[in-house]
Amino acid sequence: MDKMVIEGGFPLVGEVSIGGSKNASLPIIVSSIMFDEFDSEIDNVPGLEDIKTIKKLLTSLGAEIKESDEPDKLVINTSGINNYDAPYDLVKTMRASVLVLGPLVAKYKKARVSLPGGCAIGARPIDFHLNALRSLGAVVEVDHGYVEVHADKLKGAVINFPIPTVTGTENIIMAATLAEGTTIIKNAAMEPEVDDMIFALNNGGADIKRVEQSIIVVNGVKKLRRLCHRVLPDRIEAGTFMTASAITKGDIVLKNINVQHLKAIIDKLSEAGAKIIINSSSQLRVKGSKAIKSVDISTAPYPNFPTDMQAQMMALMTLSGGLCVVTENVFENRFMHVAELIRLGANIKVRNNFAIVKGVQKLSGAEVMATDLRASASLILAGLASSDGLTTVSRIYHLDRGYEKMEEKLSNLGAIISRVKENDIPVVDEPDFNGSACSKSA
Ligand code: EPZ
Repeated sequence: MDKMVIEGGFPLVGEVSIGGSKNASLPIIVSSIMFDEFDSEIDNVPGLEDIKTIKKLLTSLGAEIKESDEPDKLVINTSGINNYDAPYDLVKTMRASVLVLGPLVAKYKKARVSLPGGCAIGARPIDFHLNALRSLGAVVEVDHGYVEVHADKLKGAVINFPIPTVTGTENIIMAATLAEGTTIIKNAAMEPEVDDMIFALNNGGADIKRVEQSIIVVNGVKKLRRLCHRVLPDRIEAGTFMTASAITKGDIVLKNINVQHLKAIIDKLSEAGAKIIINSSSQLRVKGSKAIKSVDISTAPYPNFPTDMQAQMMALMTLSGGLCVVTENVFENRFMHVAELIRLGANIKVRNNFAIVKGVQKLSGAEVMATDLRASASLILAGLASSDGLTTVSRIYHLDRGYEKMEEKLSNLGAIISRVKENDIPVVDEPDFNGSACSKSA
């Protein structure tokens, strides 16, 4: 296992190009299951561990991942799919594997997918996904840790999610795409990644409309044509590099982004004192301020401040000039980074779903351990701002799930950071939220 070694205290300066969105790539890649007449071509796919996992899963179902002429282009042929079973060892490493449920049931009227189990950041059940499939007429049984779904046919229905669920919305959109009749999804997730998937499916012959902010209408079609799409930029990778500039008092230009998806992050970083100059719809510049202001952070579904940026913003707040409250409203256990930030000298107290962060003068390098994807990013940011001593972040396989060439991009901005082999200390999978080992799940 690798770890990252950082000598902090240097402002990051320069330009960085942001990759394609992990959380848009995953549903769009699995939607290729519904397009079996032609090769599916998906561009701007980031080179991440999670992408490798979903490719492995599709191959295990019988799909063929073809060679492509560009590194970020994925070509998939799904005409050979003859297996409808997503096994535990794959699903437990990446919960988003449950996204195969919708397209498999839509196309083949059956699927058997392992329950993903709990995770470092919360129990993360999929009951909303399963109840919605039942509303479409599917028979859903849960037995021996697996979800078995089959349906003679899927018929449109009205789905009303109790709370917005991103992959739940995506799963049901895919299931409804080939169903008979119209499906109305209420309290649908509003994340841009959902709309990117809708755009891709509609270009391939589907009939899906977001008629109101949180209402999506799907008119089932008999057949789809061809999936050919370029994935939108990753707003969380963008937010992470914006925060890197703020925490190191740097000056970074971000390219290949979608500024309109970053409003909540731009507003919050500006409130904290960063100077943000928008050069165009796909480029902005972030200049860190000498004094970081304390700002309260409260996560909520899009378009509000994203839970996937909570850990990164908390790192920034550890060096702010006062006291702030970070409230995590989406997941029940997304403060695993707090104990590690405290090891770097931060002053944070957690009470239920909120953390009280009292800014300190400086952070000092230490050995810390990544526990989940965004926690690993938070620790890297804190290490970059630690002005004395080296910071080593272990278990960075978490980081590799959602960030491509992170150390390369940071080094190009002036960071002193390198990836080294973890010394061979045997590592036992840390227990997850409900006790089963899921050291790599997010
Ligand atoms: C997606 O996860 C993202 N993953 C997550 O990003 C992100 O943090 C999350 O949405 C929230 O924005 C992908 O898109 C692959 P939810 P998802 O269903 O869909 C509860 C990252 O760092 N819930 O929107 O799994 C759930 O427990 C990852 O890139 C149920 O109770 O999240 C949570 O409290 C981490 N029952 C809330 O809803 C269900 O059936 C929102 O979860 C489904 C969800």
